[in-house]
Order: sequence, then C-alpha cells, then structure tokens
Amino acid sequence: MLVLGIESTCDETAVSIVKDGSEILSNVISSQVDLHKPYGGVFPELASRSHIDKIIPTIDEALTKANITLDNIDLIAVAHGPGLIGSLLIGVTAAKTLSLALNKPFIGVNHIEAHLYAAIMNRLHEVTFPALGVVISGGHTMLLKMSGIGKYEKIATTIDDAIGECFDKVASILNLSYPGGPEIEKLAQSGDNSYFNFTPGVVKDNPLSFSFSGLKTKVLYTVKGQNGLKESSLAIEEEEKKHIAASFQYCAFSDLIDKSLSAAKQHNCKSILFGGGVSNNKYLRELLKQKDPSIQTFWPTLGLSLDNAAMIAGLAYHKFLEKNISDSYYLEADPRLPIL
Ligand code: KG4
Ligand code: ZN
Repeated sequence: MLVLGIESTCDETAVSIVKDGSEILSNVISSQVDLHKPYGGVFPELASRSHIDKIIPTIDEALTKANITLDNIDLIAVAHGPGLIGSLLIGVTAAKTLSLALNKPFIGVNHIEAHLYAAIMNRLHEVTFPALGVVISGGHTMLLKMSGIGKYEKIATTIDDAIGECFDKVASILNLSYPGGPEIEKLAQSGDNSYFNFTPGVVKDNPLSFSFSGLKTKVLYTVKGQNGLKESSLAIEEEEKKHIAASFQYCAFSDLIDKSLSAAKQHNCKSILFGGGVSNNKYLRELLKQKDPSIQTFWPTLGLSLDNAAMIAGLAYHKFLEKNISDSYYLEADPRLPIL
C-alpha cells in the first residue's frame, strides 16, 4: 500500500511517500527555520502563509522523488493535531482535497503518536510490548505505557514546560539562535557538565512527572544574576556559557532518563522508544547507554526525529489496516488533539 503523508503541524511543510508502513520512497521536508529565526521562535501567521506557498511544490517533489504519480497512491494521510491551528489547516485541507479529487481514502493521525512510531518504523517486529514510550518534543514531554500501536496508557507528563521548549528558552537566555536544542548540544560538547550544580524539578504527587520551569529560572538567574531578566547583562564570563549548556543539558537529561528507567521498571517494560525533536540529541543517546547499557532502546533513524511526514504516512498505514475505512471529511484540525 502506497501512502502519501502530509505534515504541517508547526514550521515544516513535509510530504512523504511510504510503502506498507515502513519503506520510505521519499521524505521531503521544506524547512521554515530561516523565516522564523529573526523572531527567536515560530511566528504562527508566517508559518501558515509559508505552508500555503509550499504545500503543492512539496507534494510534487515527494511524488517525483518516489518516481510515482498521484494515480499510484492508495491512501492520503495527514497529521491533524496537535499543533498550530493555522498550520494544521493547510495540511488537513490539502489532504481532504486530494482525497476528494482522486477518490481515494484519507486518514488523520496524531502527530505525537507518529513521533513514537518513527522510532520503530523500520524495526517493528523487534519491539517487546509492553514498551515505554518517551515523547520529547518542543510541545510535549510524556511517558506512556505502550501495549501496541494505538494502545497507550499515560504514566506521566510535564506540569509546565516541555523539554524542547526548555532547551529553546535556555538557548535564548544564552543568546543562541533558534531552534535552541541543537545549539545547546553543540555548545555543551566543550563544556563541563559538573561546573554548575543544577537540580531537576520534583513533582510531589507523581515522582515520575516532570517540571522544567524551575530549572529554566535557575539557569536564567545563574546567567543574568539573581532575579535578572533575559535582557539583563551577563553575570557570568562569556567563557562559562559552554559550562551552562553542558550542566543544564546533563541535569535535564539525567532527570528524563532516571524517570524513564524507573517507569520502565515499575510498568514492566522491557524496551523504551524515544520520539520527538529532542531525541535527535546524540548526548542523550550516549547518557542513556551509560546509565543502563542493557535496556533495549529504539530511536528514530536519521531524518525521522524532527518533524517529518514519513512517520505520518507510516503510522497511517497501521491505522487504516485497523479501521479499513476512510476518515470522514468532518475530521478537523485539532490544535490540542490528545494522544489518548
Ligand atoms: O518534534 P519537533 O521537531 O517539533 C515538535 O513537535 O515540537 O521538536 C522540536 C524541538 C525543539 O524544541 C528543538 O529545540 C528540539 O526539538 N531539538 C533538540 C535537538 N534537536 C531539536 N533538543 C535537544 N537537542 C537536539 N539536538
Ligand atoms: Zn513534532
């Protein structure tokens, strides 16, 4: 089955052609990073307008790269949430229009669920369920018990900032460019992760839940002085910025890994799947290996950590096999679409 997937939840216009849920024939990502850089984050209205400009050329490019035409497609898939409403609407409208015009079924999938699928897309048969799903993106931080695709139980989430958002904000405090995650990773490579002693957030009622806003504020006050503001001048030496990046990254990732390993143990999960933009971080992968060399882990392969449409098309294949029916055209873009 050939699935054309569309992803436009945030600031990437992406289209991919995937065969039978795992074989990627093309995976085109048209990034808007340069458009949003001057604003230090995604400017939603500009994102929507750029999706309008790019959606058709990106569909064309994905078809050309896969060496097929629209006639060969069996199913149209789209991420219909969660995300920015204006951005989502472009992808959802494009998917419905293609479906109607070509008289082919269409299906909406959850963007966050697709991030987890990205980790197992090419190794599905190797996963031992129940598995622990760890979502680490710009908008979500969540631990889930997975009994299979589409069978999830929420274990813990963040009570404030998402981990990716925290990386972006710390990067901004350090005057690094957007998106901040990769910049922090780069700068941290030359820093000492024990130079500053940052401590992770503790959530009273659920020790597996996350809180990153206290850590972010601690970084702010260390860099800009007690009660300092983002605009204040540096209270540390320029040279110490790399130690901030390394110490912050170590603190956030140790917290993430320790809680993930505890959750896996408590919920009898033999494997852990990581999904979302932050899973692209190589240091995270190394640190996990150091903390537990034996647990079976699944990470998205190259190009599948950040927002992409291959994970949308791949997951849609399984959803369609399960339902065997097209979604209704009443299916709407949903900025807060829950995973369960
Ligand atoms: O999944 P994603 O592409 O978009 C959302 O669904 O949010 O994740 C984007 C997030 C951003 O916060 C970005 O800074 C972070 O992922 N990120 C990273 C790295 N690459 C991207 N964070 C840490 N290290 C990285 N190498
Ligand atoms: Zn994402």
